[in-house]
Amino acid sequence: MTAATPLLMAEHLTAGYGRFDILHDVSLTVHVNEIVSIIGPNGAGKSTAFKTVVGFLAPRTGRVLFNGEEITGLRPDRVLRRGLAYVPQGRIVFPQMTVLENLQMGAYLERDPARMAAALDRVYALFPVLAERRKQNAGTMSGGEQQMVAIARALMTTPRLILLDEPSLGLSPKFVTLIFDKLQEMRQAGYTLMLVEQNAARALAVADRGYVLELGRNRFEGAGPQLLADPEVKRLYLGG
Ligand SMILES: Nc1ncnc2c1ncn2[C@@H]1O[C@H](COP(=O)(O)OP(=O)(O)OP(=O)(O)O)[C@@H](O)[C@H]1O
Ligand SMILES: [Mg+2]
Repeated sequence: MTAATPLLMAEHLTAGYGRFDILHDVSLTVHVNEIVSIIGPNGAGKSTAFKTVVGFLAPRTGRVLFNGEEITGLRPDRVLRRGLAYVPQGRIVFPQMTVLENLQMGAYLERDPARMAAALDRVYALFPVLAERRKQNAGTMSGGEQQMVAIARALMTTPRLILLDEPSLGLSPKFVTLIFDKLQEMRQAGYTLMLVEQNAARALAVADRGYVLELGRNRFEGAGPQLLADPEVKRLYLGG
């Protein structure tokens, strides 16, 4: 793989549930250390695209290349082992477990205690509040804090790429700002991110590149600022 090889290339994906195709010829590319944002109306197939990339759904046609290697149809745990982590929509944590136990679950692939400790240090440096709250049951934390646990858990494997489905959904304005700040900090720390967001304007503002999906198809793509300024994107997806 050369420096110019994209980290992720999803090419011409057609996928769906049962006999119904939801995605039609969808293609997505992510380069190392980019933030890529996907926006689009409810039901456009954004979450379905993520599920197809990480192996919860097998595409009917098309392929997924990660790090220059084909991962199409691999099981999600195999995909994770290769360094592609996924934070599903809905900030899912283990509510009866402490913050620390949640993070340790994220590193279940790691057998070496020293590497586990190093992963914890990296995650706590990014989310100091989780270090303070490491003994608190995750289920008793606020929505925004739980979202941080969910993201931090995914970082415990030190992934090369992390897919975040609606990281700011349902959070108060203060936490929405905090989450978007954290995404930028994560990029500065060397991570590569692709996110799906309802909060389209903010998602494009932090993005190097963005995609608009509609009715399961690629509708627009371009640099984040360029999409933000596009009159048609503004009118259709950014509320004027
Ligand atoms: N497990 C499933 N079985 C059948 N249909 C599904 C399933 N999951 C999603 N769909 C359908 O696929 C379409 C796309 O759903 P998807 O969740 O990918 O959209 P989305 O763009 O993520 O929407 P939202 O912004 O509301 O999260 C919808 O019509 C949805 O009803
Ligand atoms: Mg969704």
